[in-house]
Amino acid sequence: MTTTAKTATVPGPRAAADHDGHLLEVRDLHVEFHTRDGVAKAVNGVNYTVDAGETLAVLGESGSGKSVTAQAIMGILDMPPGRIPKGEVLFRGQDMLTMGKEERRKIRGQKIAMIFQDALSSLNPVLSVGYQLGEMFRVHQGLSKKEAKARSIELMDRVKIPAARERVNDYPHQFSGGMRQRIMIAMALALEPDLIIADEPTTALDVTVQAQVME
Ligand SMILES: Nc1ncnc2c1ncn2[C@@H]1O[C@H](COP(=O)(O)OP(=O)(O)O)[C@@H](O)[C@H]1O
Ligand SMILES: [Mg+2]
Repeated sequence: MTTTAKTATVPGPRAAADHDGHLLEVRDLHVEFHTRDGVAKAVNGVNYTVDAGETLAVLGESGSGKSVTAQAIMGILDMPPGRIPKGEVLFRGQDMLTMGKEERRKIRGQKIAMIFQDALSSLNPVLSVGYQLGEMFRVHQGLSKKEAKARSIELMDRVKIPAARERVNDYPHQFSGGMRQRIMIAMALALEPDLIIADEPTTALDVTVQAQVME
């Protein structure tokens, strides 16, 4: 796997308490899959850093481990068959691979958000988009139903979904692919995370829509 290396990774001791380094630092990350046919080494020593306000693009051919790396960072890797034999994922200096479950869940819910390639499979088909967006505010910020709905409409406006107020109660299948992708982006933005990981967020869309979504 190829990463765009902006900075040399210099391993060394780093105290979490007086952390003044990177927002995200992936150090020597290894991921392998244990299957009946043997061990597949999917990620072999990836290093990269992301600072606040910075965009990092990870390039690599299909099957080179881009998604698996993202999943390992987000803690959504299927384990088993996946295993992380080596490496660190430091978020503001704290290793997410070794921290407690609860602490990790908080970071993942509120500090790091992820946008997937396929919005249709990540949105719940039987709940309106307004409900799903609003849930972020109700669960994480304790807003009332009414407040959450207002915030949902604001967010839909922000990602340029036309007639957001009229469409807030529509279901995912009633939106086009491009609009669904925007809804997923809105969900990722909802809690104003420090870091957003986007795994081919526009691959399923046509070229003009891709440009709009990226913007
Ligand atoms: N759950 C899994 N079980 C076994 N192998 C997997 C699993 N998930 C991914 N892999 C393997 O890991 C490698 C990297 O895949 P992936 O990260 O999806 O590549 P890409 O760079 O295209 O996103 C591939 O060889 C893939 O087959
Ligand atoms: Mg992938």
